[in-house]
Amino acid sequence: MADYIAEISSPPTAVAEADRAALTDLLANRWIGYVLTTAAELDVAEALADGPRTAGAVAAATGASESGIDSLLRALGTIGVVEQLGDHQDTFALTPRGSLLRAEVPGSLRDAVLVSGGERFLRGWMRLTERIRVGRAPISPREAAEDPFDRLATLPEAQDQFHTAMADATAAVAEAIAAAYDFTGLDSVVDVGGGYGTLLPPILRTHPNLTGVVFDRPYCRAGAERVIAAAELTDRCDFVGGSFFDAALPKGADAYLLKSVLHDWDDDRAVEILRRVREAMSDRSRLLVIEVVMPDTVRPDPEHRQKVWADLTMLVASGRGERTEGQYVKLLGAAGLRVTATIPTATLDRAGIIEARPV
Ligand SMILES: C[S@@+](CC[C@H](N)C(=O)[O-])C[C@H]1O[C@@H](n2cnc3c(N)ncnc32)[C@H](O)[C@@H]1O
Repeated sequence: MADYIAEISSPPTAVAEADRAALTDLLANRWIGYVLTTAAELDVAEALADGPRTAGAVAAATGASESGIDSLLRALGTIGVVEQLGDHQDTFALTPRGSLLRAEVPGSLRDAVLVSGGERFLRGWMRLTERIRVGRAPISPREAAEDPFDRLATLPEAQDQFHTAMADATAAVAEAIAAAYDFTGLDSVVDVGGGYGTLLPPILRTHPNLTGVVFDRPYCRAGAERVIAAAELTDRCDFVGGSFFDAALPKGADAYLLKSVLHDWDDDRAVEILRRVREAMSDRSRLLVIEVVMPDTVRPDPEHRQKVWADLTMLVASGRGERTEGQYVKLLGAAGLRVTATIPTATLDRAGIIEARPV
């Protein structure tokens, strides 16, 4: 007993202090996501696009208060989004990192920031404890009965914002995916649940004999056709509208891609999708599942934190989540597919490509 009292009343060791500081720092960093969302909502990056400006000028351009913008810009200065100019301390310049918060720039993250900081996700994060209690399962009967993409179909603005965010994110990693997998010798590829179709252009450009189809719900048609036209691929790439639960997928293609699709669904629905793809495949077709593959053993490093961010974002939004390679092997097996290769990519989120063929 005396030992115990001595232990808890002794001064904290240097090690404990370092951990206290580290945890306090992690907790304090909670503001960063909120500040990025506000910067995107107020279009601060656009206000600084033509060169450095004072906080007052940014306030006038964004319709916000000068004192508020001053706080926001200083906060953004600590995370490398803007730079406070030494000689004129009330003047701020957009950094290359900050320019990714502009719309319509290559690799733009503006919509991703807006979606991840939007009401749906924030409400989800507020219920994380409940989600963790329930696990990967619906949190309510309504959620159990709901196809989230049916709801999106009734909200054109939210639908376009979601698909633009996905399209931007996918455009930013599509080159790395095209480089990671050898499509040589293939004639046709179908991107199932391909959204606005930003995955196919780098693949088709590298392989001039390859033709492509983007298959997704009909609400993606206009966005996908815009992307295909901008990539000058209208002669080699089509959009086909339909649901992978009840419409016929284009048959007999050499390769089918499913990127960031299976993570939206529980195991039963995911197997249903895989069976539909399997039905469309010929015996020579291959399927490439492109997803964040969760590590079996986590490490305290940025790469694994990025994967956990993807996993928890899915969990809070929908009660779904990312899977390990072993879990994908099981899912694919249940749909009559066997894994023939697992290929890492150099994408930011270190997504993996799981190649599968008919059993
Ligand atoms: C998370 S997004 C991924 C989009 C794209 N593959 C990417 O990585 O950018 C999931 C996609 O699945 C599509 N989807 C959802 N339900 C579908 C259905 N029943 N039939 C076809 N596509 C569907 C959505 O419209 C959306 O484009």
